[in-house]
Amino acid sequence: MLDALLRTAHLLAAIVWIGGMVFAHFCLRPSLAVIEPPPQRLALMRAVLGRFFAWVAGAALIAVGTGLAMAARRGWTLAPSLWLMLVGGLVMLVIFGGIRHALYPRLCAALDRGAPADAAAHLVPIRAWVLVNLVIGTVIVVAAGVWR
Ligand code: HEM
Repeated sequence: MLDALLRTAHLLAAIVWIGGMVFAHFCLRPSLAVIEPPPQRLALMRAVLGRFFAWVAGAALIAVGTGLAMAARRGWTLAPSLWLMLVGGLVMLVIFGGIRHALYPRLCAALDRGAPADAAAHLVPIRAWVLVNLVIGTVIVVAAGVWR
């Protein structure tokens, strides 16, 4: 029963985290051009990312916490794809921490001091690191699916 709960929470958290990154990267970002004037896009991104990062913080802690709990309950006897998942999941967590606690506050600070050009520049590494996490997350899920 506990294993089923851990596994279900783990999968739901992974879906929120990866699905959110897919939406942000492939749907939201390419659609921003419809908003005029451009500074409004930055205000929208600040609001969307603030909410998204709160969801990801919960999802990331649940994914990693339940993953470690499942690994511990198996006595750390894991298939290679799950070791890859463990390492990849921890790397994703560190990257997310950097985005949430270092990069995003810079975007907010630039908007607060009325510097949209700086804010736009701070958005670039956020996009890049979200894409890195999306690639790692996709690789670990595909590896778990095909390499059992
Ligand atoms: C410290 C980090 C992590 C650890 C230790 C971990 C561990 C595990 C374990 C032990 C399972 C096997 C569950 C079972 O067979 O009942 C599993 C499954 C799974 N995990 Fe993770 N995980 C971690 C992070 C993540 C992350 C970050 C994602 C995606 C964002 C993810 C996605 C999945 C998926 C999709 C499965 C199902 C795979 C399958 O059933 O073949 N995991 N994980």
